[in-house]
Amino acid sequence: MEAYIADWLNMLVRWVHLITGIAWIGSSFYFVWLDNHLEPREENDDPRLHGQLWSVHGGGFYNSRKFLKGPGFIPGTLHWFKYEAYFTWLSGFSLLAIVYYWGASTFLIDPAIADLTPWQGIAISVGSLALGYIAYDLLCRTKLVESGMDFLAIGVPLLILVALGYSLVFSGRAAYLHTGALIGTIMVANVFFVIIPGQKKMVAAIARGEEPDPLPGIRGKQRSMHNNYLTLPVLFIMISNHFPMTYGHPHSWAILGAIIVAGMLIRHFFNLRHKGKIVWQLPVGGALIFAAIFAYLIPRENAGLPPLPQVAAERATFETIHGIMTQRCTACHAAKPTQAGIAGAPAGVRLESAADIKRWAGRINEMSVIRRTMPQGNITGMTDEERALVKAWFESGAKAD
Ligand code: HEC
Repeated sequence: MEAYIADWLNMLVRWVHLITGIAWIGSSFYFVWLDNHLEPREENDDPRLHGQLWSVHGGGFYNSRKFLKGPGFIPGTLHWFKYEAYFTWLSGFSLLAIVYYWGASTFLIDPAIADLTPWQGIAISVGSLALGYIAYDLLCRTKLVESGMDFLAIGVPLLILVALGYSLVFSGRAAYLHTGALIGTIMVANVFFVIIPGQKKMVAAIARGEEPDPLPGIRGKQRSMHNNYLTLPVLFIMISNHFPMTYGHPHSWAILGAIIVAGMLIRHFFNLRHKGKIVWQLPVGGALIFAAIFAYLIPRENAGLPPLPQVAAERATFETIHGIMTQRCTACHAAKPTQAGIAGAPAGVRLESAADIKRWAGRINEMSVIRRTMPQGNITGMTDEERALVKAWFESGAKAD
């Protein structure tokens, strides 16, 4: 019952997280696009006008106009964009708690990496998110922040170090997710602690009829640019739990680092393109990084993994394999799993009957022999000899009788 309730919470909160995330990132993409497409004011325009543009959408024409220091008055209704960000974080953190704290011993902790208790894991998770933001905020208070490039040159390697750090304490999947959770926390905290307070100061100054102090605006813009470059990496991380080939690799953190860099290059290309500058080297660079990752991850036996022992092929009978599946896999991969935190067969893969095992033979080999990311966190203690038996069975035709 408990796992069933957790699955429902997971489903509903994930849905909310996706919706608020789309609303947030969507409006953020829209405003970046808007800013980059503004046409400068013309001679007889309002002198306060900074730029404007026309667009057509949904049955009408829109005329967006930007006034850097306000239009000279405070409009009766002024729309703010902040709750999308706040609810994305709240739903995201709830989801983290439902999946990785409630199910800590299944999803957060991998005893082969670090034999933590659930509470230790949770403390590291919460503590690292808070400390991570504080460290980033301190970095933003140095001179470094004045040049976007300098900031990237220090910030990106630090972020990759964070991914490495997480990979030393959490399961591969949780390490990725936490790198993303930290990025998301930084992005939302930027909105909450810097961007929105700056906008409030600006609006208050204009309401008092004063010239707004430019500093909060400049700081807000810097943070907002950081957020902009972090969007593609964070979105990848949020879907990464479907791709064990990335987070399950022995050098998962390096793969994540490369994907973060590729995402930023592609984002940079679009930012420049909006301003009319096409730099093909950027997406080509991104594509080359992906090609390199593709080549690096090509399933090769023993890629970074210790070689499996030799076993005599005659020993790999179906009966033996069936026994291994029952002992090592069906705690999770069954119609009614017994593993805490798993409500139904993960990814729809059941490994109970001969027909099930035959049907999934290719994936069984892939996950438990080539990549060895299953059993998840090797929670059921599958031995290398058993993996070697699965391999011998698969290579001799995966017969199920
Ligand atoms: C502790 C629970 C657990 C155990 C034990 C476990 N798995 Fe899994 N397995 C999962 C989860 C969770 C997923 C889904 C991961 C995802 O969504 O990508 C999964 C997914 C899979 C998939 C589908 C993913 C794909 O890309 O094909 C296969 C196949 C698989 N497991 C095989 C096995 C085999 C074989 C064993 C036993 C040797 C095993 N698993 C043991 C939890 C487990």
